[in-house]
Amino acid sequence: MARILLGITGGIAAYKACTLTRLLVRAGHDVFPLVTEAAERFVRAETFYALARKSRSDDPYPHLERADLLVVAPLTANTLARLAHGLADDLLTEAALAHDGPVLVAPAMNVRMWEHPATQENAALLRSRGVEIIGPAEGELAEGEMGAGRMVEPEEIAARIAELLGASPSAPGPLEGRRVVISAGGTREPLDTVRFLGNRSSGRMGVALAEEARSRGADVTLLAANLAVSPPTGVTVVETPTAADLEREALARADADVIVMAAAVADYRPPSVLGEKRPKDGAPWLVELEATPDVLAALGAARPPGRVLVGFAADGAGNGLARAREKRLAKGADLFVFNDVSRHDIGFDALENEVIVLSEAGERHVEKAPKREVAAAVLDEVERLLSKR
Ligand SMILES: Cc1cc2nc3c(=O)[nH]c(=O)nc-3n(C[C@H](O)[C@H](O)[C@H](O)COP(=O)(O)O)c2cc1C
Repeated sequence: MARILLGITGGIAAYKACTLTRLLVRAGHDVFPLVTEAAERFVRAETFYALARKSRSDDPYPHLERADLLVVAPLTANTLARLAHGLADDLLTEAALAHDGPVLVAPAMNVRMWEHPATQENAALLRSRGVEIIGPAEGELAEGEMGAGRMVEPEEIAARIAELLGASPSAPGPLEGRRVVISAGGTREPLDTVRFLGNRSSGRMGVALAEEARSRGADVTLLAANLAVSPPTGVTVVETPTAADLEREALARADADVIVMAAAVADYRPPSVLGEKRPKDGAPWLVELEATPDVLAALGAARPPGRVLVGFAADGAGNGLARAREKRLAKGADLFVFNDVSRHDIGFDALENEVIVLSEAGERHVEKAPKREVAAAVLDEVERLLSKR
């Protein structure tokens, strides 16, 4: 049993903290709720005390007692800023300053509040101090907007808390003990010190695959190429901004059990990079691009027996599927995931995807669905192949 300080701050998602409190109490933990004044506009502190089987104590300092973990869920933009800057103007922030153990926070706010540079800088500051930020998830927000800002579901937070506290999951996941490498995002090839050639990939598909693989028990390394979304918690993140970085880091891990190359890797790049910003002089700037090495084919060639290699083909509707079929064979990949990037509702920079998974066994059409569900379908195919080897 662990002692957990559970901070609840003033957002609509405070109601979800009731479920989280119950899950933690049911898991046998001693939960101490720290409810901000603003949170009490949504759910009364008494509700959390009752769920945590606590009563308001006469001791003025129970929040300063040693705890195994501090969790703040939901975390408002306001308290995120207060934590980042070390304020101590209520019980929660006092407890946070006095706490010297692990901290897990689950932000929940409007997408524009989350994306504001002030919030992003505060989040980076917390991360740099070792605070783990889970989410926010993408989807429809309470006020009807779409985007990143939803608090991660209580079940997922509780599962992460169990991992952080070292509790073994009730049953080992199907990918337990497997090393899985996933690339995500889009590479950027520099032209000079400030300009680059890039693509519209956000990294959502690769991040969804990494989350899904982690939840199935895998030891996940995410090769991150300029992600527009937060990487998931509980995975090792290696930054790979260019095609050359991605090639180097992927080949260094060619012996992983599973490699999924979901990143959009540049096919062409400038052969050399100017050492300074090219001044504007009105003259045309002619750049001849060279082909980048084919990382997937190199991985296919270097692949030890028994490993599973998955490629992604981002192509148009016309002959795209036929090209993907040819590529799967040419590159030595077990699975090829074809998605039609000529559509705007799926694929690049969209929340959903619709794919065709090509393998030796045939072709499986995965209907349009949130990327996490598509990721689950792809990993089902990976597990099927692993079970045969
Ligand atoms: C209806 C309503 C909903 C709110 N939802 C959020 C939210 O989801 N996230 C957030 O950061 N702030 C939200 N706020 C603003 C916070 O409540 C406000 O910044 C408050 O000062 C936060 O205090 P706290 O961080 O001490 O809990 C909301 C305010 C109102 C009135």
